[in-house]
Amino acid sequence: MSCCEAPAWANQFNRRRAARELRDYQRRGPIPTTRALIGALVRMGVGQSTLLDIGGGVGAIQIELLAAGARGATSVDAASNYQDIARAEAERRGVTDRITYQLGDFVELAPEVAAADIVTLDRVVCCYAHMEPLLRLSAQRCRRLYGLVYPRDRWLAHVVVGVENFFRRLLRNPFRSFIHSIKAMDELIRALGFTLRHTVRTFAWEVVVYERNG
Ligand SMILES: C[S@@+](CC[C@H](N)C(=O)[O-])C[C@H]1O[C@@H](n2cnc3c(N)ncnc32)[C@H](O)[C@@H]1O
Repeated sequence: MSCCEAPAWANQFNRRRAARELRDYQRRGPIPTTRALIGALVRMGVGQSTLLDIGGGVGAIQIELLAAGARGATSVDAASNYQDIARAEAERRGVTDRITYQLGDFVELAPEVAAADIVTLDRVVCCYAHMEPLLRLSAQRCRRLYGLVYPRDRWLAHVVVGVENFFRRLLRNPFRSFIHSIKAMDELIRALGFTLRHTVRTFAWEVVVYERNG
């Protein structure tokens, strides 16, 4: 665990889990929701763009968008295990010189994080209690396309997350998952000057891409 890393993230996003996710990515490519987000962004145009990928995990979005023509990427992740593995994979693929890494909670680091053409949060808001500052600060750093993947706000998802959090509490695991209101997130993003351009729904997840107005 690094000095600036919260124990909840270090515990949840441990080295074993990161290594397993990297193996899966190397064998099968991005998981379906990540693939849907990447596909939508590529169709809307990523050539010569800069990317800010928050909570990028093993770095699939960074690697795939750089391969699709993005100019450079910044990765901000709260978990050092993920960031170490993402960096090693980027090195293996020869793209580390196009990625800047920042370790820590994006909400705290935001003043030091540069704006980008594309900002992504793939399965990140559900790991964070304070949806409003996470979305506001990230959307404010987005010049064009803002992509998110989050759990659908359904009663079954609330039950699953409630049970998971119950067992985490029992096992003294400080990590918690959250299902934030999709309506509240949508209203906030629109109020910050974006229009919804793309939505894909699976049984459990929603993938959205917003575009900055004007
Ligand atoms: C469930 S993983 C998703 C990883 C990857 N995006 C994917 O979909 O496979 C959540 C990631 O978000 C990161 N994360 C959660 N909240 C964060 C925050 N406030 N700032 C930076 N990273 C955050 C975690 O460290 C972790 O890497």
